[in-house]
Amino acid sequence: MKDKSKPDNPLVPVVSKLINCIIVMFLLILVMVFLLVKYIPNTLEKIETNNTSITSEKNGNFTDEAKKLELDQKDTIDYWTAPDIASLNLNENKDLILYGKDLIVHTSEYFGQKGKLVKNNTNGLNCQNCHLEAGTKIFGNNFSAVASTYPKYRARSGTKEDIYKRVNDCFERSLNGKGLDTNSKEMQGIVSYIKWLGKDVKNGDKPNGSGLKDLVFLDRASNPEKGKMVYLEKCQSCHQANGAGKLNAEKTGYIYPPLWGGNSYNDGAGLYRIATFAKYVKYNMPQGINHSSPQLSDEEALDVAAFVNSKVRPHKNIKFDWPKIEEKPFDHPFGPYADGFNEKQHKYGPFPPIKNKLEEMNKEKD
Ligand code: HEC
Ligand code: HEC
Repeated sequence: MKDKSKPDNPLVPVVSKLINCIIVMFLLILVMVFLLVKYIPNTLEKIETNNTSITSEKNGNFTDEAKKLELDQKDTIDYWTAPDIASLNLNENKDLILYGKDLIVHTSEYFGQKGKLVKNNTNGLNCQNCHLEAGTKIFGNNFSAVASTYPKYRARSGTKEDIYKRVNDCFERSLNGKGLDTNSKEMQGIVSYIKWLGKDVKNGDKPNGSGLKDLVFLDRASNPEKGKMVYLEKCQSCHQANGAGKLNAEKTGYIYPPLWGGNSYNDGAGLYRIATFAKYVKYNMPQGINHSSPQLSDEEALDVAAFVNSKVRPHKNIKFDWPKIEEKPFDHPFGPYADGFNEKQHKYGPFPPIKNKLEEMNKEKD
């Protein structure tokens, strides 16, 4: 009797549960489809606007949005890493390589105002002031591609240059001093260290992150007045109002190196070219930043470059540079030129028209 009071079919509760489940799942699917439709095109759109705004805003007057978009760009590239100096062994000329590294890091202690090897052989800068972290920093003007690409033809001298010549170029220009004898222990040390840094790079290769990182040029000339504003806000605290930097207490070297005046690089140096200066500064200054955390927009970097490079500095006789004038780079500030643009535009820009013209001229030659 008891049995008969129960529902006839024992499957009824099971089926009703199943139906409930199906309804819930159906609703979930609906919600997911709705979310997909709403957000996917949106993200695609965002990626696109990101890319276009950066170039279209390149002449924006420091607008906050343009700058934020530019600085927010991230990359996922696999960069070069320097070999570990702690793993050096005696078979590799360990002492000479370590000596070379020390010369690059503490150049002024050997060759500066109070140099222990030669006094006043240089302006007191260290190689490391521009080749950061002893020439190992990504986009910090590192030496990763030197061993793999030298000797090579360089248009500045119009000859094939070896590493010795290239090192002495920096002694004579960036350090506004005298070059070293190829056979000196110092030159041998510097070159051994630079070669050791690049020992794992295949001949001819330039690893990711070598040298300096490119930036987008402006359609207007770089503006020293605007650059001065950047300097006051972002550089002066260390490099000082007169650009002369700050010596250490013993006066054996700089805590903050000079950017202009008698002890700075001369007008034949790489940093005297505004594009090169801007590339160095954008990804390395103010001190402590790197290529994934820049603080300046391309525009600010180019303007501050114009400001610094419009100040007085030592002069170098470069009569014999660029024997083929058609090989002069777009931002070389001294004529004569084969491309028809004047010295002022070569110094401050706008650079794109000069670059286009040079490309055209090169095409005609091929
Ligand atoms: C004031 C800044 C500065 C100082 C100081 C300096 N250099 Fe340079 N150096 C540069 C610049 C700029 C370049 C060229 C970068 C470019 O055009 O990509 C360069 C290029 C080089 C290169 C060629 C790199 C390559 O990949 O082709 C070598 C080697 C070099 N420097 C060695 C030295 C040594 C050694 C010292 C110290 C004796 C030194 N430099 C000091 C700014 C400097
Ligand atoms: C917090 C201090 C600090 C600030 C701010 C700073 N710098 Fe520097 N700067 C340094 C130091 C220190 C070095 C040397 C780096 C090294 O040896 O590792 C240097 C090196 C340089 C060099 C290469 C060496 C030379 O003297 O030619 C340039 C060019 C330069 N800075 C430009 C700038 C510009 C432009 C700004 C502003 C956008 C700036 N710096 C802001 C501390 C600073």
